Amino acid sequence: MSPLSNQIAVVTGAGRGIGRAIALQFAAAGADVVCVSRTAENATRIAAEIQALGRRSWGLAVDVSDPAAVTAAAATILADAGRVDVLVNNAGVTRDGLLMRMSEADWDAVLNTNLRGAFLFTKAFTRSFLKQRSGRIINVASVIGLVGNAGQCNYAASKAGLIGFTKSVAKELASRGITCNAIAPGFIETDMTAALDETMRTALLQQIPLNSFGKAEDIAQAALYLAGPGGCYVTGQVLTVDGGMVM
Ligand SMILES: NC(=O)c1ccc[n+]([C@@H]2O[C@H](COP(=O)([O-])OP(=O)(O)OC[C@H]3O[C@@H](n4cnc5c(N)ncnc54)[C@H](O)[C@@H]3O)[C@@H](O)[C@H]2O)c1
Repeated sequence: MSPLSNQIAVVTGAGRGIGRAIALQFAAAGADVVCVSRTAENATRIAAEIQALGRRSWGLAVDVSDPAAVTAAAATILADAGRVDVLVNNAGVTRDGLLMRMSEADWDAVLNTNLRGAFLFTKAFTRSFLKQRSGRIINVASVIGLVGNAGQCNYAASKAGLIGFTKSVAKELASRGITCNAIAPGFIETDMTAALDETMRTALLQQIPLNSFGKAEDIAQAALYLAGPGGCYVTGQVLTVDGGMVM
């Protein structure tokens, strides 16, 4: 039997990159997948890709930082899909800059999407997880939340916050059989990292013991483990998938 058969998963930021890889991996493992993205175009495209794999899929355009939009989306998802078994809070943005020059708008944009978005989505499904006495929550953090990075104080704070959020939620919900874990990717080849210049990439490679950048599919495999039968006794953890960068 496929590891996620009869499971319904919600993946935020599913339109591209790591979120898309997770959505496709989950569908290949037997799950039906709700794809949440900022734009209807991206959400619908990935949902169609999943339907082509023979699974049910729904595409929803939602700004994860907007409480009203998240509440409405959760109601639609529960009505259309019937239940949710796995929630992946993956939507994330960067607005890099040195602290001295960082605008409040850049601080807020990153915290609102990366941290508030995960809070809103998790809260929106907690009642149904509690009722069904099961649920897997997976938050996509970052190694930057563990070690910090010059020029990314907003991003590092959001991801460190997400790790604290993960552990607290894990403790609150464990007695009802619900797990909550974080994945901390290292340097993964996606649109988010494509903007880095060659000098920066060479410098980064020197810090990666396995000597290569990761692929979105590497993160999807980690998410599949946490969502599947093998992850049933794992909660409150940060699974670092980074080629050995942080150890
Ligand atoms: N790429 C990396 O090297 C790397 C490393 C560590 C962590 N991460 C984390 O992995 C996650 C995915 O990153 P990625 O590299 O695939 O990035 P990406 O920019 O390719 O994709 C991010 C997705 O999130 C969506 N999104 C952004 N803001 C949103 C909002 N307010 N509402 C709904 N959707 C929103 C975007 O539309 C996009 O589909 C992020 O949380 C990121 O911080 C990435």
